[in-house]
Amino acid sequence: MTGQCSLEDYLQRYSETGPLAVAVAAAIDAIAVAAVDIAELTGKGLLSETSTLATGRNSDGDLQRDLDVRADAIIRRCLGKIPIAAFASEEARDVEIRDPHGRICVAVDPLDGSSNIDINMTVGTIFSILSAPDHFADCFRQPGTAQLAAGFVTYGPQTSLVLTVGDGVDVFTLDRASGCFRLVRRGMLIPMHADEFAINASNRRHWDAPVRTFIDECLTGIDGPANHDFNMRWIGSLVAEAFRILTRGGLFLYPSDARPGYGDGRLRLVYEAHPMALIVEQAGGLASTGYQRILDLSALSLHQRVPLIMGSAHEVRRIEELHCDPLLIASATAPLFARRGFFRV
Ligand code: F6P
Ligand code: MN
Repeated sequence: MTGQCSLEDYLQRYSETGPLAVAVAAAIDAIAVAAVDIAELTGKGLLSETSTLATGRNSDGDLQRDLDVRADAIIRRCLGKIPIAAFASEEARDVEIRDPHGRICVAVDPLDGSSNIDINMTVGTIFSILSAPDHFADCFRQPGTAQLAAGFVTYGPQTSLVLTVGDGVDVFTLDRASGCFRLVRRGMLIPMHADEFAINASNRRHWDAPVRTFIDECLTGIDGPANHDFNMRWIGSLVAEAFRILTRGGLFLYPSDARPGYGDGRLRLVYEAHPMALIVEQAGGLASTGYQRILDLSALSLHQRVPLIMGSAHEVRRIEELHCDPLLIASATAPLFARRGFFRV
């Protein structure tokens, strides 16, 4: 990037922490350069020749739009200029082995929230950076805790880069006049308690009992065991939900459900859940499947799905409790605990 950019200064300072950091900083810089182009492209809407129509399906069966493919191509072009050992994208079936001397592996979701592309809502790019292991086959089989850096960019009213290099979460916003990302928030902290939750409630009939119980608790608000009222949001774009949670707390759930193909939810572990989990934990929140910490999981295959529940620690812990102790479900739904029940005054 050119000119006086705070992201550039930040990456320069981070690079001084060691040789691996130099490689990670170069990859982040390349993704930031790509993000400027993707922001330009998504911002054009129908003025662009790029079609918002579906052009096919990606390896996981999702509708793939022209913009998904273009965003993927932009990222490949920018990352192609630096030495990375392996590259993986939501838009490609297999891991690409690149430079045998590369020290890092990069996984990306080039354009998250694709279903929002044609309706002028926020979409984004998610990325995860790992060190290159001895065997290329293991690049993206490492646990989430092995990530050296993770981040996402939102293309909405503002184009912002949310970044962690393992020392808290910082936010940079694109200064459109100069084309540079400038630091706007340092050390983001997710409040312990959530006042908002986000879930695709159209799937309620397919949810398991713990998720249904938790959402019922949220909906019952002050009249139920949660003992306070919640607001609800569903943007349908993981990056936008994550940005909201980092800004004002809250909870996001894409749980497993009983629909065919949704036994492990909808989101992908390597390039969606792992990077989001690192960011959320670095900001003091939690990320879980309901049973397990997301960062402790290792993928067996590149496009593996995983249930993702993330956000304010108090509520994520409550959901884990409901998953791990079925007796709690019975007591949470018992009328005795309702506002005018036997044990409440
Ligand atoms: O990448 C998957 C994704 O677009 C996420 O950004 C979003 O949270 C989810 O899918 C939306 O899923 P649904 O189609 O159930 O609303
Ligand atoms: Mn996505």
